[in-house]
Amino acid sequence: MSRSSEQKVLVTGAKGMLGADLCPIFAEKYQVIPTDIEEMDVQDAGSVLQTLEEVRPAIVVHLAGLTDVDQGEREPDAAYRINALGTKNVALACQRVEAIMVYVSTLAIFDGTKCEPYTEFDQPNPQSHYSRAKYQGELMLRDFLQRYYIVRAGWLFGGGQQDKKFVAKIIDLARKHSELKVVDDKFGSPTHTKDLSHGMMKLIQTDLYGTYHMVNSGANCSRYEIAQKIIEYAQIKDCRLIPCSSAEFPLAAPRPRMEAGYNYHLQLMGLRLMRPWQQALKEYVETVWGPEVA
Ligand SMILES: NC(=O)c1ccc[n+]([C@@H]2O[C@H](COP(=O)([O-])OP(=O)(O)OC[C@H]3O[C@@H](n4cnc5c(N)ncnc54)[C@H](OP(=O)(O)O)[C@@H]3O)[C@@H](O)[C@H]2O)c1
Repeated sequence: MSRSSEQKVLVTGAKGMLGADLCPIFAEKYQVIPTDIEEMDVQDAGSVLQTLEEVRPAIVVHLAGLTDVDQGEREPDAAYRINALGTKNVALACQRVEAIMVYVSTLAIFDGTKCEPYTEFDQPNPQSHYSRAKYQGELMLRDFLQRYYIVRAGWLFGGGQQDKKFVAKIIDLARKHSELKVVDDKFGSPTHTKDLSHGMMKLIQTDLYGTYHMVNSGANCSRYEIAQKIIEYAQIKDCRLIPCSSAEFPLAAPRPRMEAGYNYHLQLMGLRLMRPWQQALKEYVETVWGPEVA
C-alpha cells in the first residue's frame, strides 16, 4: 500500500513521553492527529468510536495507557480499564472504520525466568497487573483485527527537557551525590523513543502485520550498566555508582529479572531498524544533558 502525507494517522496518548517524539516524526510522512485524554479518553468506547468516525484515520497509533507500573499494582481496576479495555475500545473502533492499528506493548509481559533476551516466539506470562493488562490489550487486537502491528518496546528513554524517567533521575541524583546505588540484578533493553518512532514508521510501510519486538540493538543490560553509561556520557566524574540488589528498593509491582528483548522477527525479515543502545543513549544524553547544555 502506498502512503502519502494525505493519509491520516491518529495517535492516542500523544502528550506522553513516546507520543511527544513520535508525532513530529510521523508528521514528516503523514497527517498526524494527536489526541490525549482531554480529547479522547480511551476508556469511553462511545467517544473513541465517534472520534474515529469523524477523523477516518488510515492508521491509529495507540500509545495511551496507565504506564506507572506500581500504580497499576495498587489500582488494578484502573490498569485493566485503561490498558486492556481502553485498547479494546480502540481496536473495535479501528475495526469499524477499517483503520490499521499499531499498539505499543511491553517486554514486561514475560515472566523473566529466561536467561537471555525474549523473542516473539516465547510465551508471555505476565506477573504484574500492569503487564497483564498490557498483554490483554494485545489479545484485543488479535481478537478484533486482521491489520495490526503489536510493537513491544523495552525500557523507553527520551523526552528531552521534559524527561522524568530513568535517565533524568540518574543525572539529577548523580549531580547531587558522591555515591549512588543502582540495581544490577534486573535486565532490560533500552529503547530510544525517537529510534522506536522511526522504526515503527518503517515497519508500517511493509504491510507485514504482526507482533514485533523493537528495542535498540545489543540490549541485555542491567540498570547499573545503563547508569554507568549515562554518567559517562553526561561527563559526571564525581559520583561513584554502587551496584546493589533490587531487594534494597522494594516496589509495589514485581519486575521480571529479565525483560530484555531481541528483534528476532525483524531480523528474520532482514530488517535492521534499530542502532546499538549505547549510540542512541550517548546521542540523547549529550544533546540534552551534555556539559555544554547543562
Ligand atoms: N515507558 C516505558 O518504558 C514503556 C515501555 C514499554 C511500553 N510502553 C508503552 O508505550 C506507551 C507510551 O508510553 P509512555 O512512556 O509514552 O507513557 P506516558 O508518558 O505515560 O504517556 C501516556 C499518555 O497516555 C495518556 N493517558 C492516560 N490515560 C489515558 C486515557 N484513559 N485516555 C487517553 N489518554 C490517556 C497519559 O496522560 P496522563 O499523563 O495525563 O496520564 C499520557 O499522556 C504506553 O502504552 C506504554 O505502556 C512504555
